[in-house]
Amino acid sequence: MTSQNVCREKGQLLWLYLMCFFINASNVCVCVCVCVCVCVCVCVCVCVCVCFAGNGEQGKAFPLTETDRVDQAYRENGFNIYISDQISLNRSLPDIRHANCKQKLYAEKLPNTSIIIPFHNEGWSSLLRTVHSVLNRSPPQLIAEVILVDDFSDKEHLKASLEEYMMRMPKVRILRTKKREGLIRTRLLGAGSAKGEVITFLDSHCEANVNWLPPLLDRIAQNRKTIVCPMIDVIDHDNFGYDTQAGGAMRGAFDWEMYYKRIPIPPEHMVKRAGSPVMAGGLFAVDRKWFWELGGYDTGLEIWGGEQYEISFKVWMCGGRMEDIPCSRVGHIYRKYVPYKVPGGISLAKVILRTLQKTLDLTLLIIFFKNLHFSISMPQVC
Ligand SMILES: *[C@@H]1O[C@H](CO)[C@@H](O)[C@H](O)[C@H]1NC(C)=O
Ligand SMILES: *[C@@H]1O[C@H](CO)[C@@H](O)[C@H](O)[C@H]1NC(C)=O
Repeated sequence: MTSQNVCREKGQLLWLYLMCFFINASNVCVCVCVCVCVCVCVCVCVCVCVCFAGNGEQGKAFPLTETDRVDQAYRENGFNIYISDQISLNRSLPDIRHANCKQKLYAEKLPNTSIIIPFHNEGWSSLLRTVHSVLNRSPPQLIAEVILVDDFSDKEHLKASLEEYMMRMPKVRILRTKKREGLIRTRLLGAGSAKGEVITFLDSHCEANVNWLPPLLDRIAQNRKTIVCPMIDVIDHDNFGYDTQAGGAMRGAFDWEMYYKRIPIPPEHMVKRAGSPVMAGGLFAVDRKWFWELGGYDTGLEIWGGEQYEISFKVWMCGGRMEDIPCSRVGHIYRKYVPYKVPGGISLAKVILRTLQKTLDLTLLIIFFKNLHFSISMPQVC
């Protein structure tokens, strides 16, 4: 008798129960299956899977309770460090790029970059998540090094423990200032020791998103006088949810009171790029030699808030251009408040005034606004 005949004649039912579990980058799943087989010839299975995602995976908001909001959590960092500590350093993020970004091709040979991350009394998990996200989401051959520049922090965790942790990461080095220098001189210290062909400045509480780096480097490869900025997404300072900024992708500009403004990108530039009058300042990539040809930053700038105008004006006046790149996205925690004292109590207005006096005389002002006009109406001209 053949096995087929056995099946037909006896027609027994066979019940099977199966259980399995699997783990991927961000989930642990448990599945239970029940199968009914008619003999061994035909089986029908029904499976139920339950997946447990880690806290904050896929950029989801952490479910906050009232006790998670204690003031202490914010006092030292300006965001809720207790929540940050409970989220994986390698957490996954949602890929919220425009769908067409996935089809975009970039040059095969791109310049490598030094990533410069200045910090002052940054939280442990927020600083490390910045470094992990950069290393996890960049093609390794494009990262020449990651330079953490400590602006005279006094927090214990940023001393020996940080050095020890970073010893395991061959590409990461730590530099320290000898006194409190402020953001600009701290960035310059990092830039001065960088060896990559491009330098990329990031903040110390960021998360680089999917394929953030090649779109930036590609633009610099095509024109070394281009300074490029990623789109900056918002990481919520309470629950660490990841989302785009209000209004979606935009580019940088300013109003007559020198306040930084975001203006819409014309639809035809949503995937390509958009020339920008000024940049946001915190996160950008620039050809290393071009940065020094521009004179770097004005070392007299004491605090952040004016430096982006200084560098922006110099770029346009020296025949370069600035672009916000919609296909490159980096999340940033906007603090609830600034938790440290500004050295010397310098006001932002003073910084901006200094910038204007130093960079703009009348003829240059005219050239600048000509460039600005062109950059808005005909982005290809510069
Ligand atoms: C995070 O990813 C790095 C590789 O970038 C790996 O070495 C490390 O073990 C991971 N850490 C965790 C907590 O998963
Ligand atoms: C970066 O690129 C330059 C030029 O191709 C090369 O000389 C250098 O070794 C690279 N650096 C690293 C760390 O890959």
